[in-house]
Amino acid sequence: PPALYSTRANAKGWDLAEPEGYAAFEEARGPLHNVTWTAGPIVVPHLGPGPESRVANPGNPDDTVGEVRELLPEDAAAVVEAAKAGVGWAEPSERARILRRVAELYEENAGEFFALAAREAGKTPPDAVSELREAVDFLHFYAAEAERLTPEPRGVTVAISPWNFPLAIFTGQVAASLAAGNAVIAKPAEQTPLIAARAVHLMHEAGVPHAALQLAIGGGEVGAALVRQPDLGVVAFTGSTATAKAIDRQLAETAPAAVLVAETGGLNAMIVDSTALPEQAVRDVVISAFQSAGQRCSALRILYVQEDVADRVVTMLKGAMAALSLGNPWAVSTDVGPVIDEEARDKILAHVAAAEARGDVLTRAGEDRGLFVAPTVIRVPGIEALEEEIFGPVLHVATYKAEAVDAVIAAINAKGYGLTFGLHTRIDDRVEQIVGQIRVGNIYVNRNQIGAVVGSQPFGGEGLSGTGPKAGGPRTLSRLATSGSRARRA
Ligand code: NAD
Ligand code: ALA
Repeated sequence: PPALYSTRANAKGWDLAEPEGYAAFEEARGPLHNVTWTAGPIVVPHLGPGPESRVANPGNPDDTVGEVRELLPEDAAAVVEAAKAGVGWAEPSERARILRRVAELYEENAGEFFALAAREAGKTPPDAVSELREAVDFLHFYAAEAERLTPEPRGVTVAISPWNFPLAIFTGQVAASLAAGNAVIAKPAEQTPLIAARAVHLMHEAGVPHAALQLAIGGGEVGAALVRQPDLGVVAFTGSTATAKAIDRQLAETAPAAVLVAETGGLNAMIVDSTALPEQAVRDVVISAFQSAGQRCSALRILYVQEDVADRVVTMLKGAMAALSLGNPWAVSTDVGPVIDEEARDKILAHVAAAEARGDVLTRAGEDRGLFVAPTVIRVPGIEALEEEIFGPVLHVATYKAEAVDAVIAAINAKGYGLTFGLHTRIDDRVEQIVGQIRVGNIYVNRNQIGAVVGSQPFGGEGLSGTGPKAGGPRTLSRLATSGSRARRA
């Protein structure tokens, strides 16, 4: 079998900065700017009809992206029963061949994924391209891992994914479990079922048997009904820490032998010291905090700037933010698209309003309208002041004195999350010192702190941010298969 990295090449992607790449992107998605998709559960048992719902475009409430039929929670048991026939669905080399075929089909259907990423999930063009690239990377990576490890299946996987990476994380969870030989029941987020349904159709077209991959459409109740079933081998979950804890409690009761792989949220920090190059630091802060409208688990939530340079950095940050374009995610000129739904917007705006009442808002770049939330900077004394992850374009800024850097690191660690961390400094000893102390899954030095690359930068956190193993890394398949290490609970 090939060595881990020798045969892996990341997807070529679409370079939107090149006229040819941009033209190909527009040509691929153009005809799909106003079609309406339909989807329902893709399951083996014959079931009665479930409730129907409309999928709206977060960037335009008048745009109906699709209509879906959901699975009834009481049908979860029949779906899990049918999945048992799919466990051990092919030899590892055949699984690898089929996953690589799925990757080809994804790229052939790129336009549909770009259109759905924009209209169903509010993704800007660069984010839509990254979404597909990462999904393709996961398929190739786990195909190579199946050949390297020849894993034995653990059983039935329930894979529950979030809306913020509706193709990439959805595909990563499913591909890893399929590569391990497990049968998967995939439960995408209720906000983004259409892109998931297209992915499942292509996986079946590539040769994944129907018993080895079923799609359960619905919200938290359907997810909860699936994880209540006994006889589960694995639950792969990406989403909020609160939901991960609820699933962990449920599994302890009904399926204690099941492995839980949970990837959750974070309160991610960056430190910028007085030796940092301010232009580079500000650029990386803007990307880390506001790309994808801050709706990344990896996104920067609190920036610590050394007191001596704070005024300069914050002034430059305000200037850079004023140039951000907030609006229609379909447009290639847009930097910041909408947040996913009203519930998310209301929570973010309540947080901003409370900061405004305290006089702590330093800048708001643009006007709130519909589900578009103006990128915002809020002054805070430190990470202690943050109660929870605010999942949107909101950055908190604190200052620190050079001699207090150890206390800053201690406060970040004490918060209990541990997903990403950024550091801007030009002192090598300081990099070594801080990297040695901070307890997070992914550390980024003198660059932005989002967009981990499958295979090169395995992604995942510790503490309240997840149970590991990291996605797109060398330990995932052993955890999902019987040859893997023991389950670790959140
Ligand atoms: P969420 O926890 O509300 O929902 C995630 C998924 O869980 C959805 O499919 C939802 O339907 C399902 N679900 C909800 N309640 C359930 C229950 N009781 N039992 C089973 N399933 C249930 O999270 P969200 O708001 O959709 O996603 C955003 C969160 O995801 C943020 O906290 C973000 O940080 C996190 N996230 C983490 C990573 C990572 O890799 N660490 C990546 C992306 C997003
Ligand atoms: N893997 C995604 C990132 O690094 C969440 O931004």
